[in-house]
Amino acid sequence: MKIFLDTANIDEIWTAHRWGILDGVTTNPTLAAKEGRAFEPMAREILEAVPGPVSLETTSLESAEIVREGRELASWGKNVVVKVPIFPEGLKAIKQLSDEGIRINTTLVFSSNQAILAAKAGAWCVSPFIGRLDDHGENGMDLIRQMTKIFRTYGISTLVLAASIRHPVHVVQSAEAGADIATMPFKILEQMFTHPLTDIGMKRFCEDWEKVKTYGSSRTPKPEYQRTV
Ligand code: G3P
Repeated sequence: MKIFLDTANIDEIWTAHRWGILDGVTTNPTLAAKEGRAFEPMAREILEAVPGPVSLETTSLESAEIVREGRELASWGKNVVVKVPIFPEGLKAIKQLSDEGIRINTTLVFSSNQAILAAKAGAWCVSPFIGRLDDHGENGMDLIRQMTKIFRTYGISTLVLAASIRHPVHVVQSAEAGADIATMPFKILEQMFTHPLTDIGMKRFCEDWEKVKTYGSSRTPKPEYQRTV
């Protein structure tokens, strides 16, 4: 499963990129608004920083306008994926832009029916919002499982991108359910690293290594490390 960051924050993107595990980035108008910067220079900076796909969202409500906006966004870099919400005008634009070879991330997907339509229109990926479904009293992970099953049954190449991830368990469950990509806030990527037993273990190893460095050439183990068996 590929790991994407769901952010428009360039510092978070650079940090994850330096860890060597960042496969791509997704943004949306809400994430862009949080940064308080003009969109185009910010998006271009992200596109240069990330070698993988970067989703940039259209906001028009009429298909011809979405197509115009999508073409403009796609012209900003080879790694642009144009994000289009699933609704009738959006679907027409998804078909048109996909036919032109522009990769589409279909967003605001909350059902397999929406995913099937997006796939038929040629979308590169669909983004089921699992956290928002859970918030709504439904089971987001069931939707990921259902979508991956349908796509694999029919050999559909559209990717399932698990979005609206709220905690590290969502990441593991998305991988188990067969999602192709999981996009997550930076905080959750950090949480993927952490386990208290790792911290305790590292502290102990570092302390013991300091002891090793004080040893001379005698081969007698220090009393606290002599074997008892
Ligand atoms: O980028 C789309 C999605 O990941 C948004 O997540 O947390 O606003 O539901 P959230």
